[in-house]
Amino acid sequence: MIYVDHAATSFPKPEPVIAEVTRFLREEAANPGRGGYRLVRTAEAHMARVRGQLARFVGGRQPERMIFTYSATDGLNIAIKGVVRPGDRVVVDQLAHNSISRPLRHMADLGQIELVCLTPPTPDGALDPQQVADAVAAKPTRLVAIVHASNVLGTLEPIGAIGPIVRAAGALFLVDAAQSIGAADIDVERDCIDLLAFPGHKGLQGPPGTGGLWVGSRAVDTIAPAVREGGTGGDSAFPTQPPIWPHWLEAGTHNTAGVAGLGAALEWIEARGGPAAMLRHERELIRPLIDFLASDGRFTLYGPAADRMGDRIGLASFNIAGVAPADVAAILDADFDICVRAGLHCAPGAHRHVGSFPDGSVRVSVGPMNTPEEIAAVIGALKRIAG
Ligand SMILES: Cc1ncc(COP(=O)(O)O)c(C=O)c1O
Repeated sequence: MIYVDHAATSFPKPEPVIAEVTRFLREEAANPGRGGYRLVRTAEAHMARVRGQLARFVGGRQPERMIFTYSATDGLNIAIKGVVRPGDRVVVDQLAHNSISRPLRHMADLGQIELVCLTPPTPDGALDPQQVADAVAAKPTRLVAIVHASNVLGTLEPIGAIGPIVRAAGALFLVDAAQSIGAADIDVERDCIDLLAFPGHKGLQGPPGTGGLWVGSRAVDTIAPAVREGGTGGDSAFPTQPPIWPHWLEAGTHNTAGVAGLGAALEWIEARGGPAAMLRHERELIRPLIDFLASDGRFTLYGPAADRMGDRIGLASFNIAGVAPADVAAILDADFDICVRAGLHCAPGAHRHVGSFPDGSVRVSVGPMNTPEEIAAVIGALKRIAG
């Protein structure tokens, strides 16, 4: 089997991740904060260690502001619902995943917020930072929410240029790093990111049911627990959610085994050279596929052009003339044992932008376990299908 659907979730997980989840479940899986006996304290220390690892991984200096979440969707909802209030204005981009666009659209439909959607100026999907500058200059804005890397087009957005613009305008900057974390260089301080939501189960190679939300200093006094309130272990006498970090946004029992596995995943990434090495590997893998798709007239390639690999992550989205994307994926699965995702990828706005709505596209997304031979096999299969 060839698995090239890493944008959905990474698979297979590195062996040390699997081993650590198993070890944690066997040896340490008491409930952090719930009690004071030694096993609880061991589990608690382990969670604190991974929290620190994650914070450092994105350049965050206060580990208690790294909130464990269950997915990128969870973190995005905690961020959006935690900072946006009735009467606010929010700026978003057209490539946004449903996990950003749906909660915001819901608020807008209820008449609670003014929602401004930025359309990238060209089909490659890259925003012009000036668009953001114009949008936030027009009216006071609470939040600018941008997807760092499009899960449909593979385009990396210039968040390093956008962050200072958002900050200067006094808005909060929320970045969806679902497709970039683990590969792109992210530094919340340098990039002026106030809220960074990411999954643990994609580029970070961690288990499903893991993720994180970084809350920067400018968002700390604004963000409120709007998604879940409840038990925190300590501070049980508080009648409402205790205003203590990370408990403020972290009610309920964690996916502790998943978090332990995520810690092992971060070590595994660092040992392989960190995000820069991961991105290099992804781009080397995807390049022959991009070159092939761009050079064969039967295929339509979406996202940055073949000569602009520096603007893309390891993902290729395309269509074959005359064959529905869902059929391509089904044939790849049934006849070639190749796993890809077809359709709208939970980001209909991105497909509208490039004209592939409503059928969507076929998406090949690579990960650290893929090999050049596998990508050659994918290209061979696509040639057969197109022929
Ligand atoms: C850009 C983007 N944002 C958010 C999400 C949601 O991530 P999760 O599956 O961790 O909830 C995805 C998932 O594919 C994504 O691609």
